[in-house]
Amino acid sequence: MLPTRLRKNTAIRNLIRETQLSMNDVVYPLFIVDGQGVRREIGSMKEQYHLSLDMLGAETQALKELGIRYVILFGVPDEKDSEATPAFVETGLVQEAIRVIKKVDPEMYVITDVCLCEYKSDGHCCFFEENGEIQRQKSLETLSKTALSHVKAGADMVAPSDMMDGRIGHMRETLNQAGYEAIPIMAYSAKFASSFYGPFRDAANSAPAFGDRRSYQMDPANAREALKETVLDIEEGADIVMVKPAMPYLDIIVKGKELSYLPMAAYQVSGEYAMIKNAVDSGLMDRRAIFESLICIKRAGADIIITYFAKELQVMLKEYQ
Ligand code: PBG
Repeated sequence: MLPTRLRKNTAIRNLIRETQLSMNDVVYPLFIVDGQGVRREIGSMKEQYHLSLDMLGAETQALKELGIRYVILFGVPDEKDSEATPAFVETGLVQEAIRVIKKVDPEMYVITDVCLCEYKSDGHCCFFEENGEIQRQKSLETLSKTALSHVKAGADMVAPSDMMDGRIGHMRETLNQAGYEAIPIMAYSAKFASSFYGPFRDAANSAPAFGDRRSYQMDPANAREALKETVLDIEEGADIVMVKPAMPYLDIIVKGKELSYLPMAAYQVSGEYAMIKNAVDSGLMDRRAIFESLICIKRAGADIIITYFAKELQVMLKEYQ
């Protein structure tokens, strides 16, 4: 057997290729900020932008032209408070952004990240008791309230990224009671306490003011615990489960995929983006590294990839696939 027989030219390589990427695989993250006329490059993430609402229409149109059909929204308000109020008000950045996007492109599928860290003065994803313990009930209620406000504004799907125990069940119940049984929940199920989120914390201005997130996000050393988290989210009613980050956690994607029949999402996070982007831009690696990173995440089992490289995929599909 000579395996190279099937590698001789493009035609045969294309014929036997096991994994294909398409624009239907990728979700593009958008960061919405206060202000007017803002389209500011994010310092830690080259070619990714902070956008004000008035700039979002043009961006939506541009995304459509780049073949992007799925976005996930993050709000980065100037004013945060101890109650995370900007997360759930009807006129919040994400709520308004949904309306703008839907007006320009009703077919754009809008997912929202549901968390408190971008909206809460201490930059944490939850509330704490005086003694430092997580105030679970209040955290769940605020998260669910946030999700509901997104859905009322027209979001197609909500994606809780907080890692509080029981949030999927609580959110499902809240949405159902409000008549939104048909809205799916994509759960950030296996979300690790990762240094690969570094550039995002700059993008979302959400670095914790004290401590870190290790008391609620997962220990990178644990795979079985990731499966436990995934099982719990499935039992609570998640429609899609997620692994985050993606590349250093491909084993978790493989194992998570074997666990159920649910679609699997993977988030190629800001640090993965920054590493690859900087290496490619400085000539250390070929641009194909971007495509390779995405196809490998898909090969591991991801049906959905949230990636800052989505804007480059349409061109790469023509060149590399
Ligand atoms: C909010 C949230 C984070 C990311 C997505 N949702 C930051 C964090 O948990 O610290 C990270 C995304 C990225 O790094 O690209 N909780």
